[in-house]
Amino acid sequence: MKNNIIIFDTTLRDGEQSPGASMNTEEKIQIALQLEKLGVDVIEAGFAAASPGDADAISRISEQVKNSTVCSLSRALDSDIKIAGESIQKANRKRIHTFIATSPIHMEYKLKMSPEKVIQKAVHAVQYAKTFCDDVEFSCEDAGRSDLVFLKEILDAVVQVGAKTINIPDTVGYRMPSEMGKIIKSLYDFIGDRAIISVHNHNDLGLATASSIACIQNGARQVECTINGLGERAGNAALEEIAMILHTRRDIFSEYYTNINIKEIYSTSRLVSSITGIETQPNKAIVGKNAFAHESGIHQDGVLKNAQTYEIMSAKDIGLDKNSIVLGKHSGRHAFKDKLSALGFNLKDEEMNEAFNRFKFLADAKKEIFDDDIRALVAEEIIKIKEFYKLITLQLSDCNPGGLPSAAVTISYDGEQKTDAAIGNGTMDAIFKVIDRICNVNGKLKEYKVDSVTQGKDALAKVVVKVVFAEDKTAVMGHGLSVDTMLATAKAYIGALNSYLSMKK
Ligand code: KIV
Ligand code: ZN
Repeated sequence: MKNNIIIFDTTLRDGEQSPGASMNTEEKIQIALQLEKLGVDVIEAGFAAASPGDADAISRISEQVKNSTVCSLSRALDSDIKIAGESIQKANRKRIHTFIATSPIHMEYKLKMSPEKVIQKAVHAVQYAKTFCDDVEFSCEDAGRSDLVFLKEILDAVVQVGAKTINIPDTVGYRMPSEMGKIIKSLYDFIGDRAIISVHNHNDLGLATASSIACIQNGARQVECTINGLGERAGNAALEEIAMILHTRRDIFSEYYTNINIKEIYSTSRLVSSITGIETQPNKAIVGKNAFAHESGIHQDGVLKNAQTYEIMSAKDIGLDKNSIVLGKHSGRHAFKDKLSALGFNLKDEEMNEAFNRFKFLADAKKEIFDDDIRALVAEEIIKIKEFYKLITLQLSDCNPGGLPSAAVTISYDGEQKTDAAIGNGTMDAIFKVIDRICNVNGKLKEYKVDSVTQGKDALAKVVVKVVFAEDKTAVMGHGLSVDTMLATAKAYIGALNSYLSMKK
């Protein structure tokens, strides 16, 4: 029992703080259910006080997740703690995670509080959180740059009033793994078994995973991490790296175990990428596109003779089956349903029917449908926010040299259809102009990205746009998917507008 390493996943909270990673409630629920399937012990489902949308997502996740503990973050403020406590009420296992900064620079400049006041606030926060649930975690924000003597003082105080887990974040990713290891050892010697010591390392110097491992070796029994290493700035320690280090180096780590089912790693990683639109870098350890690819002839030859010549783990270990079934237009509903569940999607009956119809439609346009096509289809077309505006038709003029690119569009809103046309400096410009005109907005396109989901000339195009629609300069993301890039562009732009409207509501 002593060496069970609790995996605390914060993809839905710190991960969502990655620029461009914001997710709607339906998307968060899909990820939470997959995290549970992966075997995550604690799911930090959000920061309830951040917005009513966050609180609602945590509450809906609390209703659906059965085995993992569901946790909400909160500052050490009564108002935050109250909302956090209410948002997790329906969870089978619930936790409040409250924090306050403890480093000299944060206390002096950000909080403008004396160290004594900070201790008082922390103690009160834990006591108040305990009125909502017994399982309370306390974090010393910027612990990596805090004074060790002060850390012991505040941790002793919160443990005395019932904090069960004390978290030591290297908030700015400043510490070397050996330094984090020493801090944890000193705190472990001081706290002993009075509370579980947790770590939360950021990746600013690329050391988050290495530091997390050093902390485990020095007494930490909970690790906070995210799928694909998503997170504020350079991200957090990557769950898949920690799990695979402990698995692959059993020779060193035989005394530790986690509840992670490593076969679910690949699906979880792909689900998070398809939903957030943030692809992992190709050379990302464990889950990058090239993590199991062998390019040079010498390596290929070696792997064919004996895979272990150049592979320390197998793609199959993480659930990456290169021979997995490819679906096509003759595939039936049953095969499709099995595939969806293998990919980590949990759809309601009507969503499943809609997904199957879209799949059949896609299968007419595309010979072979790969796993990533299905992931993209469900993430882009099925799990989505309310569609205020819906694209009905898009017609483009031929782009003859010297001609005028134009777009004619029909959009429905509240059951009513409107059609209009515009010319532009290019086809895309014409599309944006006519949508703006019909919907009576004036969007400013800040980013545009197009990727092909899989290979082949008939590959699906996935377009991501970042648009500002209002004076308050709030940027919203929109995603669009189609075998036709311009159609995907129009869908993405309308998707961004729908996101903006749902945010406003
Ligand atoms: O990085 C950090 O310090 C955090 C805390 C709120 C736990 O995310
Ligand atoms: Zn963090």
